[in-house]
Amino acid sequence: MSTRRQFLRRTGLATAALALPLGPASRPGSPLRTPLRTPPAAAPLLPAPGRAPGEDFWEDVAARYETTDRITNLEGGYWGMMAAPVLDAFQRHTARVNRENSFYARTQFNRDAEAVRERVAALLDVAPGEIAFSRNATEALQALIGQYNRLETGETVMYADLDYPAMQHAMNALAARRRAEVATLVIPEPAESAGQIVDAYAEAFDAHPRTRLLLVTHANNKTGLIHPVGDITALARARGIDVIVDAAHSWGHVPFDVAGFGADYVGMNLHKWMGAPLGIGAMYIRAAGLAAIDRAHGDTGSLDAIDSRLHTGTTNFATTLTVNDALDFQQSVGFENKYARVRHLRDLWVREARTMDGVDILTPDDPDLVGAITSFRLHGRTSGEENRALVRTLAEEYGIFTVARTGIAGGDCIRVTPALYNLPPDLEKLVAALRDLAAKRG
Ligand SMILES: Cc1ncc(COP(=O)(O)O)c(C=O)c1O
Repeated sequence: MSTRRQFLRRTGLATAALALPLGPASRPGSPLRTPLRTPPAAAPLLPAPGRAPGEDFWEDVAARYETTDRITNLEGGYWGMMAAPVLDAFQRHTARVNRENSFYARTQFNRDAEAVRERVAALLDVAPGEIAFSRNATEALQALIGQYNRLETGETVMYADLDYPAMQHAMNALAARRRAEVATLVIPEPAESAGQIVDAYAEAFDAHPRTRLLLVTHANNKTGLIHPVGDITALARARGIDVIVDAAHSWGHVPFDVAGFGADYVGMNLHKWMGAPLGIGAMYIRAAGLAAIDRAHGDTGSLDAIDSRLHTGTTNFATTLTVNDALDFQQSVGFENKYARVRHLRDLWVREARTMDGVDILTPDDPDLVGAITSFRLHGRTSGEENRALVRTLAEEYGIFTVARTGIAGGDCIRVTPALYNLPPDLEKLVAALRDLAAKRG
């Protein structure tokens, strides 16, 4: 079987692919490659049409990230490392913005930011006027929840155990201000099917018929479960319930379709799976849903414009500019390829872990319900203390970085998130560690 490199050489595409600047690849056991200080070549690093990219392609992609050899990082869920060409661009934008100072910010930035907004909107297949940039998903979601104005005294807001804590708190605060009720539901663990999750919501709606606002997470941060948002929203809307979608963890990670969510409100991140610099997220408000969100903090901007719903003040101009470079990189890899790759890396360890006595996997294998993220716990070890201790053991004794997660009805767990800079040996290392830990569990 020919390798991708052989194929590229044969088809004459090798030069184009290799013209992309190679980031300094600091992988254990490999020498540091010198980054080429040139902007990313226009030619995308695409696999051959109609072919799934092979391991050599993914090695090439991984080499474009400068990683540390201090630890094997399987905690890509916190935020997304910039690939070397993106980091390079960020540094150039930072230097330029700093050099030109307010002259740039006052005369040019708005136009540049508008172009970025148009590109992001086009990628999401929504109107530019339905998108506003925030500094992170939290800011976007807190604005959507906190400024929601349709909640009446005695009505109910609802969220699930797997939703993000800060968003649960924002829902609680909204309910308290409006003298409304809070209803929570528990997502089955592990969820067996999309239908089972939808049924859990249907039951909760039946139990709380005055529900007005629902928070639903696309990819949750605890187990990585992908929630069937479109189906849940359809059910909610049929009952007159407005839906805010927390998509902080899903854009650029798993197949993503804002229209398919069917919701008026979505909060997203660009600094997780889109690999933009830290400090950028986005808010989506469907034009028809704008009136139900108050303007931010007495903002006097147009009632008809999304920008009046989010007032961030001065932000990092270079971060916004670098979104273009991050999207260039992600598109050069290809979103479908990326989804398949991170899912493959996830399967490499989960398949083995499922055969180990005493290791409970909390995330299903159904391709519609999982992406890169999967969580596990050693059987019966449900406390925060036990899971934090295990995270320490994985780091100190096995050289693997993960994170403990809490707030799940079934107990705490450990989240594992491979990313594009990981290669199969990283997951093999985890498998060996888990085998060892499961055997020692006693
Ligand atoms: C599901 C979910 N929602 C919201 C957030 C908040 O994102 P940020 O910290 O970028 O604001 C996160 C962060 O991990 C998350 O996983």
